[in-house]
Amino acid sequence: MALPLAVIVSGSGSNLQSIIDKIEQGVLDVDIRLVLSNNPEAYGLERARTHGIDVWTKSHKEFPTREGFDEAMIEAIHRHGADTVALAGFMRLLTPVFLSTFQGRVLNIHPALLPSFPGTHGQRDAARYGVKISGCSVHFVDEIMDHGPVIIQAAVPAAPGESADDLAARILVQEHRIFPQALQWFAQGRLKVEGRHVHLAGYGDYDAQTVDGALINPPLEKGF
Ligand code: GAR
Repeated sequence: MALPLAVIVSGSGSNLQSIIDKIEQGVLDVDIRLVLSNNPEAYGLERARTHGIDVWTKSHKEFPTREGFDEAMIEAIHRHGADTVALAGFMRLLTPVFLSTFQGRVLNIHPALLPSFPGTHGQRDAARYGVKISGCSVHFVDEIMDHGPVIIQAAVPAAPGESADDLAARILVQEHRIFPQALQWFAQGRLKVEGRHVHLAGYGDYDAQTVDGALINPPLEKGF
């Protein structure tokens, strides 16, 4: 059975789109049961509707507590039969109430090479700092922001003085590759977490791969 997934977005939802595309191409064995957003204007909701996916949206400002908002999301996710959650550009911290409900089953995409540049402006912070290499990370979510065990990372070169938008666009291309791939490994039950380390079943050696100038580890599989 396809992995029953909920996806939470706050904005454009291009990462959501990359997940939808891989499902429609038949390489990602996931069933998106619900797309949620704390931003009723999020374009990601429109993308979901276009593909016939149920949506749930409420502004977090309607809730007196963070837990209250998370409990409402938990209820909606359960009602739609999802047991795994992908954070695809969700710009809020989840509470322990949410994380204990979906223990070990929440994955996040972050637009920097963690542990560098956590937070909501990873690309801008990297561009301002003047790093020569940045990238993106998919990781399991724990109670500390952008902190849980890393599943896959892609590294891209950064140019001196380039705008945060240019760097972000180059990173985003790789996000669209590594997030669906990480979800497929999770759906296949191939990820095993030991402390901070995520092991991928079926890989004896971790030959990192170079795709269009990005270094990706573990390497992408066929179709991703
Ligand atoms: C993506 O770059 C994602 O990595 C980032 O927000 C963007 C959402 O774009 N997430 C974070 O910064 C989380 N800290 P999208 O809505 O087009 O997928």
